[in-house]
Amino acid sequence: MELQLFSLQYFLIVSLLSLYLYFYVYSAYKKSRKPGFKHYPLVGVLPGFIKNRHRILEWTTEAVKACPTNSAVFQRPGRVHGVFTANPSNVEYILKTNFENYPKGERFLSVLEDFLGQGIFNSDGELWKVQRKTASYEFNTKSLRNFVIENVSSEISARLVPTLTKAAETEQVLDLQDVLERFAFDNICKVAFNVDPGCLEGDGTAGSEFMRAFEDAATLSAGRFRYVIANLWKIKKFFNIGSERKLKKSIQVVHDFANHIIRSRMEAKVEKLDDDLLSRFIGNSDNSPEFLRDIIISFILAGRDTTSSALSWFFWLLSSRPDVERNILKELETIRKQNGKNIGDTYSFDELREMHYLQAAISESMRLYPPVPIDTKNCLNDDILPDGTFIGKGWFITYHVYAMGRMEAIWGENCNKFVPERWLENGIYRQENQFRYPVFQAGPRICLGKDMAYIQMKSIAASVIERFVMDVQDKDTCPKYVASLTIRMKYGLPVKVKERCVD
Ligand code: HEM
Repeated sequence: MELQLFSLQYFLIVSLLSLYLYFYVYSAYKKSRKPGFKHYPLVGVLPGFIKNRHRILEWTTEAVKACPTNSAVFQRPGRVHGVFTANPSNVEYILKTNFENYPKGERFLSVLEDFLGQGIFNSDGELWKVQRKTASYEFNTKSLRNFVIENVSSEISARLVPTLTKAAETEQVLDLQDVLERFAFDNICKVAFNVDPGCLEGDGTAGSEFMRAFEDAATLSAGRFRYVIANLWKIKKFFNIGSERKLKKSIQVVHDFANHIIRSRMEAKVEKLDDDLLSRFIGNSDNSPEFLRDIIISFILAGRDTTSSALSWFFWLLSSRPDVERNILKELETIRKQNGKNIGDTYSFDELREMHYLQAAISESMRLYPPVPIDTKNCLNDDILPDGTFIGKGWFITYHVYAMGRMEAIWGENCNKFVPERWLENGIYRQENQFRYPVFQAGPRICLGKDMAYIQMKSIAASVIERFVMDVQDKDTCPKYVASLTIRMKYGLPVKVKERCVD
């Protein structure tokens, strides 16, 4: 009798287990047949993830492209579950309509906390709101005009042009991406903290240690999202080994730089403080030195890594499109003639606003190579996205800016081509809907520096193009990128600079 009971129990357990396995494998199999990421039993997308980690943007683009509504579900061990989307209705929904349900979230914040602390890029709720409000004052039109006149123009004429002229004379190969990063770094430090690191001055080696440390800190922090075993970095951090050891050292260099700025500013507090961004935050005595440090780091990231990335890809694209370059030159000539200017004179705020074609060409370049190629939020409560995709509590949602630039549904059949004209209506630059083109994000957290960024990029592009010819080395090969927080070129952008002959 006892034996029979045991056999019955045994039979029941085996049957239930088989049934469970059958349904698990079957549902995983069904999932794997859906378009999008291929899911396998137990390991989810892991095999594809391992195979494609080095081409993560292309792989995820292919997945969303294959789905009827351009949203693909993604699941891998370590409770990494979420959705990649390139659907403008979903983007509008998560960034605006249901903003409260999609903060950055714990996972994102904790991965980047060592580097970014609680700075504006790495905070939610009240902490974010207070920084957003304080910083917004700095980005009004008056500050923008001052920004152009005082800082961008002087950095161009005193540093950028001499650097390029010297490169032309010596015929040396120059890394244009490095030059643009130094420019942007000098610029953001001056505008936001009234400090001039002089990175683009002299032999161009000043600040090199900081620049390298900042790059490593950004790349290694972003790399934490791509571990095959999701939280392995925490163990490496605990034992202070491998990439985590390197990350810790880089962060220390970045912190030392930021702490130095704060200390000098605190000591100067008795004197009159200039009206810059840091002063506004220091003015609030509730802000601790650590918080001020985090603010500084977020602004360096915002100001240094975005415009330099955008312009590097722009100059690379331009190198194969003499027709676009000719149109830019024509536009600059017209503006100079209208305003009685010569090559080399600095462009005013209003003249920059007249550069519709240049603005179109830069926007088009960022459509294909957005400086922030993907951006991720966390879902607080179960939800259904406008395209019908279910998203669970605690899942991530990534809106895929890089993929969106390559969607036929948004840009038509020629979506992979570099066509500045698509931005123009009767020669006038036409803004694109921010949810179809979320290069600067959109909704309440839209980039604060958008206008400032365009002014900087247009000033640099205009001054460089009218005076120099950039002979990009190996221009027919698309540069490899580093999957950092921004899309940097892995080996820089080597160019030979030549002075432009003007008739
Ligand atoms: C081509 C240049 C730029 C691009 C493409 C760009 C793009 C972006 C994106 C995608 C975000 C959202 C990031 C996130 O929340 O994860 C952002 C936020 C931000 N950007 Fe920019 N940015 C650019 C230049 C700048 C510049 C020059 C500044 C000025 C310092 C700036 C200041 C900010 C700030 C303060 C935020 C945080 C906004 C918030 O969370 O409320 N950006 N930007």
